[in-house]
Amino acid sequence: MKLSNNIIWHYMTVTKKNRHDLNGHKSCVLWFTGLSGSGKSTLANAVDYALFQQNCRTYVLDGDNIRHGLNSDLSFEEKDRKENIRRIGEVAKLFVDSGIIVSSAFISPFRDDRQLVRNMFEKNEFIEVFVDCPIQVCENRDPKGLYKKARSGMIPGFTGIDSPYEKPNHPEILIDTKQMTIEQSVQKIMDYLNEKQILS
Ligand code: PPS
Repeated sequence: MKLSNNIIWHYMTVTKKNRHDLNGHKSCVLWFTGLSGSGKSTLANAVDYALFQQNCRTYVLDGDNIRHGLNSDLSFEEKDRKENIRRIGEVAKLFVDSGIIVSSAFISPFRDDRQLVRNMFEKNEFIEVFVDCPIQVCENRDPKGLYKKARSGMIPGFTGIDSPYEKPNHPEILIDTKQMTIEQSVQKIMDYLNEKQILS
């Protein structure tokens, strides 16, 4: 029997649309996906700051940070990565329902998991941002020294080395962090949000 049997949804008086009207913009999730060291957190943070400066209501959900708290019980085994992404999808959905523009930065290596999250949202609310960067470049950057550790066998199951990363086939936005500056990348994302009339 499903655990949610006998639980009945309670509709609230203040709607998402009410919150959009109050904020002066729509809500959505910018779902940054890519290898470790590709620039997800840097970019999510920069976009969040640009939006905040335009008086938007925003928040960042970041893999490393969420794994310190809400998801501290999860490992990097496939089933736990799936649960990590499922939970974050649900959290992002709550934020979007509350009228906020969420930037989420998780490797989210599996296509099916990203699709599962996409399916939680209405049309135009889920914006997949593929932070595309060759593994050699990520490995050269190695900002946390994790690739070095992984190569020496200290981190089994490291994404891109001995655990897969499935690239998005049709992301809404592709950012090539090998070629583009942070400013150019932020601009590309802001242009997309304007084009889709999320900021107006
Ligand atoms: S996932 O795959 O979406 O569940 O991963 P995520 O929650 O985004 O966490 C990724 C960060 O955890 C660190 N880390 C690892 N990454 C990949 N593989 C393994 N085995 C691993 N172990 C620890 C690493 O700092 C990741 O951060 P980013 O920002 O991606 O570099």
